[in-house]
Amino acid sequence: MRAFQFHNPTRLIFGKGQLAALKTEVPKYGNKVLLVYGGGSIKRNGLYDQVIQLLSEIGAEVHELAGVEPNPRLSTVHTGADLCKEHGIDLILAVGGGSVIDCAKAIAVGAKYDGSMWDFAERKAQPKAALPLATVLTMAATGSEMNSGSVITNQETQEKLGWGSPLVYPAFSILDPVHTFSVPQDQTVYGIVDMMSHTLEHYFHLDTNTPVQLGFCETILRTVIEAAPKLINDLENYELRETILYCGTMALNNILSMGLAGDWATHNIEHAVSAVYDIPHGGGLAILFPNWMKHNLHVDVSRFKRLAINVFDVNPEGKSDEQIALEGIEALSSFWTSIGAPNRLADYDIDASQIDVMADKAMRFGPFGNFNKLQREDVVEIYKASL
Ligand code: NZQ
Ligand code: ZN
Repeated sequence: MRAFQFHNPTRLIFGKGQLAALKTEVPKYGNKVLLVYGGGSIKRNGLYDQVIQLLSEIGAEVHELAGVEPNPRLSTVHTGADLCKEHGIDLILAVGGGSVIDCAKAIAVGAKYDGSMWDFAERKAQPKAALPLATVLTMAATGSEMNSGSVITNQETQEKLGWGSPLVYPAFSILDPVHTFSVPQDQTVYGIVDMMSHTLEHYFHLDTNTPVQLGFCETILRTVIEAAPKLINDLENYELRETILYCGTMALNNILSMGLAGDWATHNIEHAVSAVYDIPHGGGLAILFPNWMKHNLHVDVSRFKRLAINVFDVNPEGKSDEQIALEGIEALSSFWTSIGAPNRLADYDIDASQIDVMADKAMRFGPFGNFNKLQREDVVEIYKASL
């Protein structure tokens, strides 16, 4: 293991009926709340009314930023930061999925900064202060509810950049599986692919003596693989939603990364695709991850073999390590296809025409990936294999 410090300050409030905790938690931060939400799902499923009711019971002054886009946009962040400055907001409350939460994180630092929040995404400046933010999560996927990362899209430059700061860990996050009942089947699948990808990004590391971390990853993957097919046929099943919600948070709240550096190249490659084509993050990952795996098989075939046997029950008898590893990758890809995820860029009508543009975007900060450092030609090959 590499040396590490672990500190995650987010208060995780999990379970049925936990929304009421807003009444005790919100007043700790002040009275003026900016409620941030997406395109209307929380109005359709009644969550908006419940939140407004609870906030009114504690006499909070509520301002609203509605319409945060999936793949949230910088222009929306600026609007939110201006609202915070104008009204002297005390707490940003994000009610939604990863996009809403990521937008709230960017607003939190933007509200305390004179320039554009994009300076942080471009690594031109480091955030020095942030407003507190909290979340009510409505979709299991990103882990943003319990981490310090955020991904923002700049429409003008067609860039989608991840950034992060310890200042933007949510102060508290409320996770009630019931709030995820209304997530439609396709978004449920994208979320499942995303949390599995986060687990895999951790699984592929070069640090040694990490048996517990590898075991944690395998448990999450096996659990998701067992629950997901049942869930997509039974979207309002409380226990299955509960399992998937918990897995999504555990896959990216730093627990899996203690003592190791995960790879994260596939995420970077995907963000470049969704910057240009505005596709769902999980859909892009389902297409790209198996091809990243095949491209990097040579780095440590034993890790791929272990995945195949321990997670996908590949029978190793009479097979070479490489055959076993490849069967595991096929099993992953088939599993994702079986639950309805795409497996070719063509599924999103993406052809070879923008590969150079996407590769340039992926290379913005130079070669990347910790399991294997990818150069531009590697990225181009992975895109081509994904067409
Ligand atoms: O906008 P609304 O109307 O709320 O609808 C959303 C949206 O259309 C809908 N939805 C969410 N909860 C729902 C629901 N519909 C019905 N009922 C509910 N309960 O689902 C759609 C997708 O929502 P979104 O927030 O975009 O999905 P997700 O949580 O997958 O977030 C994706 C974004 O997070 C970034 C991605 O790149 C992408 O921009 N990521 C953030 C990470 C982080 N901060 O740590 C890590 C990830 O790897 C990822 O990159
Ligand atoms: Zn992701």
